[in-house]
Amino acid sequence: MSEEAVENILQPDFNTDVKLQVKNIVKKFVINKKKSGESSTVTILDDINLEVRKGEFLVIVGPSGCGKTTLLDIFAGLSKPTEGAVSIDGKAVDGPGLNRGIVFQQYALFPWLTTAENVGFVLESLNVKKKERDKIVNRLLALVGLSGFEDHYPHQLSGGMKQRAAIARALSFDPDILLMDEPFGALDSLTREILQRELLRIRNETNKTIIFITHSIDEAVFLADRVVIMTAKPGTIKKIVRISLSRHSRLQNEDIRSSKEFVQIRQELWNLIKEEVIKSKNF
Ligand SMILES: Nc1ncnc2c1ncn2[C@@H]1O[C@H](COP(=O)(O)OP(=O)(O)OP(=O)(O)O)[C@@H](O)[C@H]1O
Ligand SMILES: [Mg+2]
Repeated sequence: MSEEAVENILQPDFNTDVKLQVKNIVKKFVINKKKSGESSTVTILDDINLEVRKGEFLVIVGPSGCGKTTLLDIFAGLSKPTEGAVSIDGKAVDGPGLNRGIVFQQYALFPWLTTAENVGFVLESLNVKKKERDKIVNRLLALVGLSGFEDHYPHQLSGGMKQRAAIARALSFDPDILLMDEPFGALDSLTREILQRELLRIRNETNKTIIFITHSIDEAVFLADRVVIMTAKPGTIKKIVRISLSRHSRLQNEDIRSSKEFVQIRQELWNLIKEEVIKSKNF
């Protein structure tokens, strides 16, 4: 197949199906002061509007405390917005669901279960028969490069391997959407780069819609079809930047991070984020 034909497959038209729609999300928290007994309300997210397309890789960046995790929790159905709504395939999100898999920064594997049992955990609770479960688990362990580690317990795996297992578990029930909150934040930079590549490959093989939070601009440029830049608290969307690097070159070109195009995009994003980081720190 020609390189151009491959690129056409890998670079779908995002103007088609909207997978996840976010309308006018506001999130407020009530803070109770312990000493005085008074309470005050803080606005964390203010009027977030967003459309994520089927098969898109959307990365969210922004200063610490701007509400990224709060937003992802709302997408996951773990938290309810104070105002506004999220819908998936046109249906309102009203709680957690099997159409979304979540991967957190901390590995969140059960220490008393083996890798295979961790990956098959949700399937077991869904009463999927053992034979079918084993088939799915083995396929996913191969997909994330963990074949041969089925019987290892989490403490017998490296950080990178634990995160691979967490990704396999999130994929086990075949959700359409993967929600990932700084999944590679605790890893060394070499393992991180390898897993970024793996994640792009997995996305290409599975066509999942991925929403991914990171503090690393480099990671955002490498992974994203679009990057959402959030403002300092209260979090709003400052800008959405489309990343023009081709999907093919991200996987094939080992030196892409030093290419002129990559460096330019990274600089553009850094300039946008820097202002917000400075505001959030009151420098
Ligand atoms: N349950 C809660 N009650 C009160 N305030 C909360 C609650 N959860 C989060 N917050 C506040 O909301 C703000 C945003 O938190 P959030 O964890 O979403 O930020 P973040 O952008 O993910 O930050 P980081 O990059 O450090 O992970 C913070 O100021 C935090 O203190
Ligand atoms: Mg967070």
